Amino acid sequence: MASSYAVETHDLTRQFGSFTAVDHVSFQVEAGEVFGFLGPNGSGKTTTIRMLCGLLTPTSGDGHVLGLDIGREGEQIKARIGYMSQKFSLYPDLRVIENLEFYASVYGVPRVQQQGRMAELLALADLRGREREMTSALSGGWKQRLALACAIVHRPQVLFLDEPTGGVDPEARRVFWELIYTLATEGVTVFVTTHYMDEAEHCNRIGMMHGGKLIALDTPAGLKRSTIQGEMLEIEGSPQDLALDVLKGLPGVRDVAPHGARLHALVDSVAAQAPAALSALAQAGVEDARVEPIDPSLEDVFVALVG
Ligand SMILES: Nc1ncnc2c1ncn2[C@@H]1O[C@H](COP(=O)(O)OP(=O)(O)O)[C@@H](O)[C@H]1O
Ligand SMILES: [Mg+2]
Repeated sequence: MASSYAVETHDLTRQFGSFTAVDHVSFQVEAGEVFGFLGPNGSGKTTTIRMLCGLLTPTSGDGHVLGLDIGREGEQIKARIGYMSQKFSLYPDLRVIENLEFYASVYGVPRVQQQGRMAELLALADLRGREREMTSALSGGWKQRLALACAIVHRPQVLFLDEPTGGVDPEARRVFWELIYTLATEGVTVFVTTHYMDEAEHCNRIGMMHGGKLIALDTPAGLKRSTIQGEMLEIEGSPQDLALDVLKGLPGVRDVAPHGARLHALVDSVAAQAPAALSALAQAGVEDARVEPIDPSLEDVFVALVG
């Protein structure tokens, strides 16, 4: 079946023994989209990516990348996509430029084009001036950008990034997302997994995974509209357990859940419940209570979906 989507799956399923890691997952990604594949560790993101990249055979169901069948045309797919795995494979003993040259030859970039492409990639990844540095000496953020440059050395139309920002600081994460956007404006389809829900706010559309199943698929705004019916409050106060109990008993509060050091409450109306919450917390002896209206986050969406 020919497909006009950059990536498309139907009931894609992968079992390991009797365990189902990816369970009847169906979605389509348009060309040029930044598609976020979101879910906690173990939810099946990497397994899905490996099937899409032709590295792992599906147990059942099917998928197409650039119209190519993931079960039968894996080799053609590999030549036309970029893949940055969770444990990306740079050679630490090579210099920056040598890693790029290595990947250029692996991907068969014609010799006459190599110099020009290297210069473009060094500029794109902001690695100019670091060509001769040893890869092992680069910080995490620089290594990530080099790994991305290596993954696109052959100008792939679709780029798969598996948790590309794991373990780097927020500034490096921000710079990396800018890079992703630059690529998308150049027409590259980006399929990116992350378990950082805040990062996924940047994506055009999001697929949320939970226990191997795709539990939601929409734009970030669409997910919030359809999932969060009501308004949200963020509450601080100690002890948190007591604050949680107080809020749970309050009229107009539909749901309360811990969100790191704070609580998020889904309420009928911020105007009514914010002052009511504040006085109830004070009355119950909760100290340093603070109540503020917030926009729902994708984390709130996820919590609302999986309960
Ligand atoms: N080769 C494998 N053999 C057995 N189980 C696996 C294998 N690969 C992944 N799994 C299991 O499948 C589930 C999903 O894994 P994975 O796709 O890596 O999740 P994620 O990338 O979302 O963290 C996990 O429970 C994992 O342990
Ligand atoms: Mg993974």
